[in-house]
Order: sequence, then structure tokens, then C-alpha cells
Amino acid sequence: MAKIAVMGYGTVGSGVVEILDRNRELITERAGEAITVKKILDLREFPGDPFEDLVVHDITDIVYDDEISIVVETMGGVDIATKFVSQCLEMGKSVITSNKAMVAANGSKLLELAREHDVRFIFEASVGGGIPIIRNLRSCLTADHIQKIFGILNGTTNYMLTKMYDDGAGYDEVLKEAQEKGFAEADPSADVEGWDACRKIAILSSIVTGKFVDFEDVHTEGITGITPEDMAYAKHMDRVIRLVGSSVIEEDKVHAMVAPMLFDKEHALAGVNMEFNAIFLTSDMLGDTMFYGQGAGKLPTASAVVSDVMEAVQFPHAVKRLVWSADKMPVADLGEEKRRFFARIHGDKALVTEMEKELGSLWVIKVEGLSGELGIVTGEVSEADFMMCRQKHPEIMSAIRLAD
Ligand code: HSE
Repeated sequence: MAKIAVMGYGTVGSGVVEILDRNRELITERAGEAITVKKILDLREFPGDPFEDLVVHDITDIVYDDEISIVVETMGGVDIATKFVSQCLEMGKSVITSNKAMVAANGSKLLELAREHDVRFIFEASVGGGIPIIRNLRSCLTADHIQKIFGILNGTTNYMLTKMYDDGAGYDEVLKEAQEKGFAEADPSADVEGWDACRKIAILSSIVTGKFVDFEDVHTEGITGITPEDMAYAKHMDRVIRLVGSSVIEEDKVHAMVAPMLFDKEHALAGVNMEFNAIFLTSDMLGDTMFYGQGAGKLPTASAVVSDVMEAVQFPHAVKRLVWSADKMPVADLGEEKRRFFARIHGDKALVTEMEKELGSLWVIKVEGLSGELGIVTGEVSEADFMMCRQKHPEIMSAIRLAD
């Protein structure tokens, strides 16, 4: 029988304990032995909870318990989680985590530590919640060069963008509704500013390249500037707006970014609505593949954690290849990238003519009901040239990149 501990009895941690209990027979059969939760670490007490007797408050109760071979970390945060996880790995315990902030910041160090102590450090639930994407990248797509990753990696913002598009509602109204429904946190900054998606695309890029892609190098924009007017233009263009973490992989660098983008309605990611996530990959042999599902939530995320626990029960020793090394993979300078842009301008045809001198021909859009402004779409221009034009013309009110 494998005995495990869970650090952090919040939404995901309690989901892990629930799944191990509810699906006990199936899990025992598939893992090859029973998996029992021996201890739960949390600062709080849980009176009335069926597992309240398992709760401990001191990490040493887990670290020095030789019977515990696997520890699940679902506490969140970076520094304390990293410290506790390091202690567990150093004591020869495998660690499973859903904590993308910790994995993005300290994954290289923790992977190395796990290898040193011949145990596993696995983190399927850190990207895409319950969607099996990391295991697929590690085990199934290994014969291919992955060339591009486009991911809708944040459920909160995808819910908000879908509602803004479908209902014509404003950002504040939709955020409030998302908070009431429990999709958005009381402090939604990490989601709406794109920081959550940034950590996730950095993790995926690190797995694919085998080197450390630092989330701090990834240009990140959120959805706080998206308006109902943007949605009106998107509809006019037969497109939808999605917050996307993207990474285009070259031999010696990646072009990684998080930003809202306008997708043609025919694109597979355009059909990913509400709180769902999806990861669209392009690789040299397989071509295009998409992984779709619940990117957040108690049981979907806990499901991925439990499957990692089952993997660690069956394969407890360090794997030959480090998922990624501490060598840094450079992120290309954004200014060099070329793409098309949509912009709302506070002006008329004279301004368009002026801008065409800098950006080449522009496609002009006039949406009924939006007076005193125009939409323009550029041909392929560099980020640097577009930024320069934007700085020169304060009449450019907002801009969104096109995803093609
Ligand atoms: N806040 C995240 C989301 C949860 O909305 O997708 C999962 O990481």
C-alpha cells in the first residue's frame, strides 16, 4: 500500500482526497496497489470533515514520516511551497503538484533535486487543469519537433471574453458575474492581467525545448483593456477574441507571448468557449493536434493530480531524461515579430492615409453605431513598426493582434 500526504487542503487538495476515496477500487486496480492518504498539512482545522483526524500543522510530521512515499503539494504560492517540496524531495519522497507559479519559477531546481534523490517531481495539473497535456508532451509527442503552441490557458478570462462577446456586456459587469459564479478570484489580477497564462506557456515551452523558458522574459498582456466596442469589431470581422499563450519554437530561441488575439471563427480555438481551456499544437510529423477540456475546478484539476500520484506509485524512480534543464532558452525580442494588427482609431480617412505611409495599405472597418471612430487592420508589419506608429498617433485608442 502506498501512503501519501497532501499539503494544502483547499479546493484542489480536498478534491484529491475525495477522488482517492470515491474511486478507491479503480485506482487500486490501475495503480497496482492501494493509495491511502496518511496526513494532510494545513494551517486550519476542519471540524466535521471526514478526514479531520489526518490534519497536521507541521511540515516535519510529513518530511520525517518514512511511511509516506509521495507528497501532493496543492498549497499554492512560491517560496514556502518550494521550501516544503524541496524538503520532501531531499527525504526521498516523490512530489506531485498543481502549482504553476512554483513550477514556472523553480521547476529546473526541483526537477534536478528529484533526479538527485531518484524520485519523481510531476506537475500535470499545473497547466490546463485536468487536460492531459504535459504527459502527452513528455510521453506521446516525443518523436516530433513541436513547432508551435497556441493555448487558451486561463478559464476565468475565457469565460469573461465569451460572455462579453455573446451578451455584449462590459468588462466590469462580466468580471463581477464571474466572481459571483466562483470562476474569478476576489483578486482577479493574476488571471485578467495574463500572469497565470504566462506561467503556463513558460512551462509548456520549457517542456518542449528541454530548457528553462523564464516566464519573466515572456511579453504578457491581459484582457483589462478589452471593450464591448472591440467585440463589435470582432463580430464584424467574423472573428472572436481569445487570450492566448503562444510559443513558436526555433532551435535556439522561442517566440513566446501572452496577449488577446483575434481568431478567425473557423479556427479550432475560436470554438473554445466559457471556462474551457485548449492547447493547439503544431508539430513536424503529426501536424495539428488540439487538447480540450476543463482547465480549472476542484475535481478536474484533482483528477490530473491523482493520475500523477498513480504514475509515481508505478514508476517511483527518476526518469532518464530531465524534463528541462537549468540552461536558459532565450525568448526572442518581440519587436522583431511580424503580424497583422487590428486597431480602433479616433479619426477619419485623413488619419488612415497618414498611417498608411508608415504601415502600408490598411483595411478600414466602419461598424454601425460606433461614431467618431474607425477600425483598421494592417497587413503584416513588425511589432516595432506598429508600436512606433502607435506612439506617434495618440488617436489609436487600442489594438489587438490577429492570430494568423
Ligand atoms: N485561475 C485559473 C484559471 C485556474 O482561471 O484558469 C487554473 O490555473
